[in-house]
Amino acid sequence: APRVTSFSRSPLLPRKLLPCCISCRSFRFSVKASSVQTASEGLQVKVFQQENYLANWIQALFNSLPLEDYKDGVLVLGGDGRYFNREAAQIIIKIAAGNGVGKILVGRDGLMSTPAVSAVIRKQKANGGFIMSASHNPGGPEYDWGIKISEIKTADIPDVDLSSVGTVRYGNFTVEVVDPVSDYLELMEEVFDFQLIKDLISRADFRFSFDAMHAVTGAYAKPIFVDRLGASLDSISNGVPLEDFGHGHPDPNLTYAKDLVNIMYAKDAPDFGAASDGDGDRNMILGRGFFITPSDSVAIIAANAQAAIPYFKDGPKGLARSMPTSGALDRVASKLNLPFFEVPTGWKFFGNLMDAGRLSICGEESFGTGSDHIREKDGIWAVLAWLSIIAYQNKDKKVGEKLVSVADIAKEHWASYGRNFFSRYDYEECESSGANKMMEYLRDIISKTKQGEKYGNYTLDFADDFSYTDPVDGSVASKQGLRFVFTDGSRIIYRLSGTGSAGATIRIYIEQFEPDVAKHDVDAQTALKPLIDLALSISKLEEFTGREKPTVIT
Ligand code: G6P
Ligand code: ZN
Repeated sequence: APRVTSFSRSPLLPRKLLPCCISCRSFRFSVKASSVQTASEGLQVKVFQQENYLANWIQALFNSLPLEDYKDGVLVLGGDGRYFNREAAQIIIKIAAGNGVGKILVGRDGLMSTPAVSAVIRKQKANGGFIMSASHNPGGPEYDWGIKISEIKTADIPDVDLSSVGTVRYGNFTVEVVDPVSDYLELMEEVFDFQLIKDLISRADFRFSFDAMHAVTGAYAKPIFVDRLGASLDSISNGVPLEDFGHGHPDPNLTYAKDLVNIMYAKDAPDFGAASDGDGDRNMILGRGFFITPSDSVAIIAANAQAAIPYFKDGPKGLARSMPTSGALDRVASKLNLPFFEVPTGWKFFGNLMDAGRLSICGEESFGTGSDHIREKDGIWAVLAWLSIIAYQNKDKKVGEKLVSVADIAKEHWASYGRNFFSRYDYEECESSGANKMMEYLRDIISKTKQGEKYGNYTLDFADDFSYTDPVDGSVASKQGLRFVFTDGSRIIYRLSGTGSAGATIRIYIEQFEPDVAKHDVDAQTALKPLIDLALSISKLEEFTGREKPTVIT
C-alpha cells in the first residue's frame, strides 16, 4: 500500500477554492489567477514551484471535501497542456493516493479538455475530477495564488509514466492513463449524425478550417475532424498543444484568434471556420468573411437542433442564456414554445437546470455554447453542431449547386426572428478603485431612475442590478450586473469581469433589436453607435478610468 507522509508548510492564505462546476463536481485549479484568487498578488513561478506549493492547494481541496466524495473513489485528471501541468499531474496523483482515493483516470500526457473531463466523469461514474487549466488565459510564468493548510498527505510512490495508455497499481491505489479522446468521441457520435457531417466535409465544394490555438483541442481535432469525419489534415491549424500555446492567448475571439480571422476574411476563404480555447470549452464560429456572435450562435443552434441533431430529435427541453447574452435565444424559445431561463454569468447556473431536466441548450456571449450532454460548455460540440446545421441545410445540394452558407443561415435566421445587434466592449486591467467607483456611481443612478425617463432617443423601461433566484434550489445570486433596459428592448449592461487576472476588467454589453430585414445588413458597430455613446456617457467611463478606448471589442 502507498506509504503516507504528512508534513506542514506554507503560510499563505486561500481566498477561494472554486469548484468549476458544481454539478459535474470537477475542480479546476489554475496556474494563473483566473480561477483561483490570491491573497498576495504577483507571486512568480519560482515561488509557485517551490516544494509543496501546489501540494498545499490540492491537500486543502481534499480537506474541504467530505470523505465519501473521494475515499476509495475514482477521480479524473486532465489538463490543457500548459506549462507546469506535467509536474503538477505527478504531485496530484501522489496526494490523491495519500488521501485514500481508489483510482485516478488520467489523460495521456496529462491532456484532457474540460468538456472531455466532464464526459469521462459522467461515463465512468467518477466522483469528480481535476482540470489543470487557466482556461483561455495565456500559459506562462505568472502565478499568483497561495494557500495555507497544516498537513499534506502524499503517498511515497514513483512518478507515473503518462506517455502511454495503461494501468499501474500501488496497493489499493490505481492510476489508469487513458486516451483523452475516446470516451468523448463516443459521446459525440451519440449526439450527432456523423454520417451527415461526413457527407458535407467530404464534398469538394466545402472547405473547413479549425484553429486549435496550440491548446488542448489540438489533441481532439485530428482524431475527430480528420480521422473520423474525413477533413483534410491542412484544415487544422495550430493543432499541436504547446505548453505556452505558441506564445498565443488561447481565447477564440476576433482579437486573439487572429490566424483564423485572417484565413476566414481572405479572398479565397474556406466556407466554415472555428476555434476553441485553452481547455476546449469555448468556441468561435465564422463563415466566409462573416462572424457569428456567440449570442446568435446559440440561438441558431437551438432553432435548428431538432432537425439537424439526433440528440434533440424530440425537441430541446428548455433553453437558457446568461443575462448579458443577447435576447436572440429568447425569441427562439418563444417561437418554439420552450421553457426559457435567464441566469447570471457562469456555467454552474445552467447545471442545476440540466440536472432537473429543464434545460437542453444554452449559451453565453463569452463564447460558451453547450447542452446537457455534459455539464460544461463544449467547443468541439459547438463546431459539430454548426457542421450538422450546414450539412442538414445542404444535404440535397448536388455538386455545382450553390451551397447554403454560414452567412445565409444567419441572415435567414434574422429574417424569421429579427436581428439582435450585439457588441461587448472590454476595458482590461483598469485600476480597481476607478472601476469600483464607476459601478457605485451607476448603482446610485439606478436607485434614482424612473420608468419613462428619456435617454437620448431611448425611453427607459427599467434599470436594476440583476439578481437571480435558482428555480431548482431557491438559492439567490445578487449583484450580477447593472442593466438599463429600454422600451424598445435595447439594453446597456455593465459588469466587472470575474476572470481577469490583473486590476479590474469592465465589460459593457450593448444590444439593440431590429425587426426590419432591410436594416439587417448594417455593420453591428454602426447600428449600435448611438447606444454605445449613451453607455459611455451614462457611466462617465472615461472620467472614472481614464480610458478612451476599449482593449477588446467583440
Ligand atoms: C468563465 C465561465 C463562463 C463565464 C465567463 C465570464 O469562462 O466559465 O461561464 O461566462 O467566465 O467571464 P467574465 O470575465 O466575464 O467574468
Ligand atoms: Zn475555457
